[in-house]
Amino acid sequence: MAMKKYKIMVCRGPECGDKRHSADVHAAFERELKSCPLGGNEATLDRYSCFGKCTRGVNVLVREIVAGESPIMVSMMPNSGKTAFLYHLVSPTEARKIIEEHVAGGRPLVEFIKRGVPPRHENEEAQLAAQASGAKK
Ligand code: FES
Repeated sequence: MAMKKYKIMVCRGPECGDKRHSADVHAAFERELKSCPLGGNEATLDRYSCFGKCTRGVNVLVREIVAGESPIMVSMMPNSGKTAFLYHLVSPTEARKIIEEHVAGGRPLVEFIKRGVPPRHENEEAQLAAQASGAKK
């Protein structure tokens, strides 16, 4: 199997950086990338200003870099495209799992992508459910 290249980006905006200590998450990835086997793949680690999902931070993007992609486009819009997965509410202790599963194993962690849905969405869902059951009566 051909070697894959991944880019890992940790947000560092004021919300995730100052309030949620994203530097600790970045440091954990830096540490784990030195010791964790990558299954023959490669990964580079970087920071990103803000993914616009601050309420679900710390956010970590793992993106496979596909051959032929423009490096400029990747750096300008890293979370666009089918090979980009944004993980929410990431803690330093989860860095190794993300590296093992996604970077080394090629298996994005769906449970990390879905988590941290803001409460207003849950309320909306409950309202819709109540509305739907009310409509049946
Ligand atoms: S600072 Fe983390 S998404 Fe905005």
